[in-house]
Amino acid sequence: RFMSYTHVLVTRPEPAVALITLNRPKALNALSSPLFSELNQALQVVDADDAVGAIVLTGSDKAFAAGADIKEMQDKTYANVFKNRFLEDWTLLSKIRKPIIAAVSGYALGGGCELALMCDIILASPTAKFGQPEINLGVIPGGGGSQRLAQIVGKSRTMEMVLTGRTISAQEAERWGMVSRVVGDGEGQVVKEAVEMANTIASKSQIAVQAAKEVVNAAYELNLAEGLHFERRIFYGLFATNDQKEGMAAFTEKRKPEFTHS
Ligand code: HXC
Repeated sequence: RFMSYTHVLVTRPEPAVALITLNRPKALNALSSPLFSELNQALQVVDADDAVGAIVLTGSDKAFAAGADIKEMQDKTYANVFKNRFLEDWTLLSKIRKPIIAAVSGYALGGGCELALMCDIILASPTAKFGQPEINLGVIPGGGGSQRLAQIVGKSRTMEMVLTGRTISAQEAERWGMVSRVVGDGEGQVVKEAVEMANTIASKSQIAVQAAKEVVNAAYELNLAEGLHFERRIFYGLFATNDQKEGMAAFTEKRKPEFTHS
């Protein structure tokens, strides 16, 4: 359970919250393959830990992550990236059941922006800068940026970001609906707020929380009729849980619920 990593740090700022910190500060948390494989391991470990209800993912004050590792990619060939399924392991993050909150300070560029977009909630510090500068390197986004941005901020803004490589500010990202909000201005404030939010989420029924995450994410995959059907079926299913009985009993008895995640 207590694994040690080189490129990520895993701590428990609250008993029910796991904080994963990307830890390659000298390279502005460039997302090398070894870093990503450790991130995936860490996510799987905390996802499997019953005591953890929600996860916060962060970087440093200067950089959430400045993108995939350009030095690692520089000499790759088509045959090489194809045969080795380069970046395919990025899909693991979207299979994590527990909510993941990205606490973004500084640069979230290229793969770093895409990593934040794969999380469930993004909180940004006023210093956060989002961008897809791949076009400056002769490539395009490869971690879902073109698709997720188009869904979230629309065509014109996505095209502008992807075609010009312009970096947008935290305030712009908030206006565009990429982030929930811009929080605080002191160092570490965004992480503190993200941990508080994660702790609030962790106090709910974990089964209901994970069901809610699953149905919201389905909105990005299914058409409306399918999505509404899926939501209702999952809603029905929750009547089979003890947490539904406890939550509704606590309401009528005017007391706090004690969820057992069962
Ligand atoms: C490898 C990186 C890096 C990256 C920064 N570094 N970004 N190394 N890959 N993506 C390294 C620098 O080489 C340098 O190492 C050190 O981190 C500090 O960076 P500086 O450039 O000196 O810092 P600064 O002048 O403050 O500029 C910050 C910056 C700039 C504007 C963020 O570093 C930058 O433009 N980085 C690249 C951003 C980018 O293009 N990202 C997209 C990558 S492509 P040394 O050894 O010189 O000190 C991508 C594809 C996604 O993400 C595909 C799906 C995953």
